[in-house]
Amino acid sequence: MTEGDLRALGEQALKEIAGAVDVDQLELVRLKYLARHGGLISAGAQDLAKAPPELRAGLGRAFNATKQGTEAALERRLAEFQLAQRQAAVSPQSLDLSYPSQPLPRGHQHPVGRLVREIEDIGAALGYQSVRGPEVEDDQYNFELLNLPPEHPARDSHDTFYLEGPARGWLLRTHTSPVQLRTMMAGPPPYRILAPGRAYRRDNPDPTHNPMFFQVEGLCVDQGVTLGDLKGTLTYFIQALFGAARRVRLRSSFFAFTEPSLEADVSCWFCDGRGCRSCHGKGWIEILGSGMVHPSVLQNAGVDPQRFSGFAFGMGPDRIAALKYGLADIRDLYENDLRLLEYF
Ligand code: DAH
Repeated sequence: MTEGDLRALGEQALKEIAGAVDVDQLELVRLKYLARHGGLISAGAQDLAKAPPELRAGLGRAFNATKQGTEAALERRLAEFQLAQRQAAVSPQSLDLSYPSQPLPRGHQHPVGRLVREIEDIGAALGYQSVRGPEVEDDQYNFELLNLPPEHPARDSHDTFYLEGPARGWLLRTHTSPVQLRTMMAGPPPYRILAPGRAYRRDNPDPTHNPMFFQVEGLCVDQGVTLGDLKGTLTYFIQALFGAARRVRLRSSFFAFTEPSLEADVSCWFCDGRGCRSCHGKGWIEILGSGMVHPSVLQNAGVDPQRFSGFAFGMGPDRIAALKYGLADIRDLYENDLRLLEYF
């Protein structure tokens, strides 16, 4: 094989490469010229060994140039085919616009928010209006006007986040009860309100405590409101929330802003009062605090306790949600782990 033969072979190969219509044809061309055994160009390597020494260097250079030129042309043509393939895959003709897309995850209400809504709906049926109060409160509203003066021992149970130190009076409300005062001070009685929202305490987090939690405050003040009305209202709320078969039990308790003060228990909805793990064998689950609004609280709000009386209650929807959905740890509600939230 001469240098001229090699050059001619190279040109021939380039023509066939340019003429190949697909990857398969291109592969055939590659084999024809470059297959290790029997490739037309490859065969030149054997001839090199046989060539007279004075021609060998020139023939070697021609061989390498032809082989490399052919390989490079094959590679370029292959890249062209691959590009064309990719373009075809995204051409308008190949797009099916009716093809269903990936479903987007659908959001829903947080279990606590949903329970608050439920409570508000039940209240609305009884004529209770939903109101909101500020989360940053004044010591006056959060404590003093609720019968909790600075040295009152019951303040200890409200481990408070003070914003500028206890002396300045700004704090994160420790309960929603200050909304009782804000409501009464904003206009004349009667009042029937529900005040849902966040409250904060410096409790050490544990399965039943989170520094931020929810409460729903209820307040009803009118002429002639009695303890019987309180019991009837609580029974209505509790049966609407937990089912008509539930019974309500009131136990005497203490809150500075109510007299008398009562804690309400609901008969356990897991065991129907027989006693189980959920109610710690008691048959009853403590659900909220309540009582008749203390006359001096009415007075502090500018409502005449001689003419008006009322009751109030405060419940923890996160506690209730945890109980209702069987969560062992109330903090799970606030971790925002979608695997848990999607479960509801
Ligand atoms: N504010 C009380 C607390 O956070 C709960 C409470 C008890 C609210 C009795 C009331 C009530 O309105 O009458 O512990």
